[in-house]
Amino acid sequence: MSTAAIIPAAGLGLRLGGEAPKALREVGGESLLVHAVRGLSAATAAGLSCFVIAVPAGTEDVVAKQLDPYVGDAELRIVAGGAERTDSVRAALDLVPLDGIDCVLVHDAARSFVPVAVIERVVAAVRAGSPAVVPVIPVTDTIKRIGPGGEVLETPDRSALVAVQTPQGFDPELLRRAHSLDGAGATDDAMLCERLGVTVQTVEGSEDAFKVTRPRDLLLAEWILAERRGQ
Ligand code: CTP
Ligand code: MG
Repeated sequence: MSTAAIIPAAGLGLRLGGEAPKALREVGGESLLVHAVRGLSAATAAGLSCFVIAVPAGTEDVVAKQLDPYVGDAELRIVAGGAERTDSVRAALDLVPLDGIDCVLVHDAARSFVPVAVIERVVAAVRAGSPAVVPVIPVTDTIKRIGPGGEVLETPDRSALVAVQTPQGFDPELLRRAHSLDGAGATDDAMLCERLGVTVQTVEGSEDAFKVTRPRDLLLAEWILAERRGQ
């Protein structure tokens, strides 16, 4: 059995700004999407046999050419994404092979520097029987829930709060069932599984799996890359 990876990469990157869509922005001479695919390919224990990438409409051919050298023996499928992240994941999920896949990863192109250990932990947990698995890190800020007027309603106990990353790993049949629901308001795929009443399991994430969101994140990305390249 093997793993399929869905990479939503169709966002515009409005918070990052710049000319190109975020996944095609370069750090260290390569796009964030190339970094993300290379990272997943390096997770040999995950046994990736298929990548399905959701990209901005019109960039399919450029992306296919760009990624081909990085997928090894795995199959590469490209699809135009949708208006929301959930729409992009759903479009990609339709292209995941029905047979021979026992784990589907959904991984943001913008979390380009996730360590191999995190990817392999997620896949191992799915294979060990958890149908939905998310990598998490502790939150360092105190989090407050506020009302419409900006007033604080409550301060949840921080020790029970985590920040959720990707790749998130799923039993393929569960992910298909979750995406057949109305995805409105869902900011990740695990949330759709929660709506089905399925228990989502957490595993240890990594600070390096941060999401490139704003311009200053590019500096952190460059620093991580330089550190990995031993510069
Ligand atoms: N994404 C997608 N399709 C969308 C929106 C987002 O495939 N319609 C992808 C992005 O390309 C990214 C991931 O989902 O890899 C996480 O989204 P986010 O960080 O919000 O990226 P953007 O939507 O591109 O950025 P912004 O919200 O700043 O415009
Ligand atoms: Mg977005």
